[in-house]
Amino acid sequence: MQKRQPIIAQPTPENLAKAAETLRNGGLVAFPTETVYGLGADATNRDAVARVYAAKGRPAHNPLIVHIADSVAAESLALIDERTRAVMAQFWPGPLTLVLPHRPDSPITDMARAGLNTIALRCPNHATARQLIALTGRPLVGPSANPSGRLSPTTPLHVADGLGEAVAMILSGGQCDIGVESSVLDLTTNQAVLLRPGAINAVMLAPLLGDVRQSIGNPDQPSAPGQLLRHYAPRLPLRLNARDVAADEAFLNFGPNPFAPKGGVMRRNLSEAGDWEEAAHNLFAMLADLETSGARAIAVAPLPDTQDYGIADALRDRLTRAAAASHHE
Ligand code: TXA
Ligand code: MG
Repeated sequence: MQKRQPIIAQPTPENLAKAAETLRNGGLVAFPTETVYGLGADATNRDAVARVYAAKGRPAHNPLIVHIADSVAAESLALIDERTRAVMAQFWPGPLTLVLPHRPDSPITDMARAGLNTIALRCPNHATARQLIALTGRPLVGPSANPSGRLSPTTPLHVADGLGEAVAMILSGGQCDIGVESSVLDLTTNQAVLLRPGAINAVMLAPLLGDVRQSIGNPDQPSAPGQLLRHYAPRLPLRLNARDVAADEAFLNFGPNPFAPKGGVMRRNLSEAGDWEEAAHNLFAMLADLETSGARAIAVAPLPDTQDYGIADALRDRLTRAAAASHHE
């Protein structure tokens, strides 16, 4: 029997209205953001949120990000101090998720927060995402629209491949601009902590927050599951700093790299020009290609040596986790 595929729909007014209605009725709709595609559901509806966990095969102790249309909506969901207000004013809408003390009187279902007394809020910088939130009239949970532990999707086809019939509708927005998930910043204590690096880095946050601590992933601490080592696992083993490539390996290159080894089953270059933003934009889509190449493993060229440059931290982080995860298989 043929597997039923979800509808991939352009974000026309009619389709957006239909998507909003689906969400209000407790259904699941995948939507584009500037980072990766999200799996949307009404964050105030426990059954809908339960369907998100089921569709992803996500452990119940891993909380979801709640997506809102603007910083005004944040005030009714979290306890906001002046420091947080300043961060929202500067970086929202944008690829920065804030972990904040949850307001006990907020309508968000406990399940979305995995029972924690904190809440992760994000205001995406993408017209379709924001229209969808506004039309639905509810905050939306939006984990990356992939089965738990797999690559985050940056195209509508990746969403369809990964989640299939579990999702009613996929709103299309082409390939996501940024390509890696939002930075996650914990503002629940005086010391700001970056739990997940993304396009917004510690250097950019420093003028507002001073010293931002970078949290090093602890696989034994599921209270910060974004830091679980297995989180960004491709299907194939991945090795970093490859200066050679075996005949049955796929090769992921970065930059002009005149010393790159020849050969392999399939080859991709994250950015011929050696540009980190272009590389982040391409990362998950290229890994997805290489995964289906029939290769035994993925060899990744040494990354250019760059310090404190925008999204470089996030890219190193995702690749390191992907390599670590494959060693733990
Ligand atoms: O860019 C993104 O953030 C995408 C798009 C769709 O918005 N969403 C996304 O969601 O990456 P997800 O669920 O794949 O990742 C959310 C991360 C997880 O690592 C989760 O553990 C962490 O945020 N998180 C959520 N709530 C938290 C909380 N209260 N405290 C600490 N970490 C939290
Ligand atoms: Mg995810």
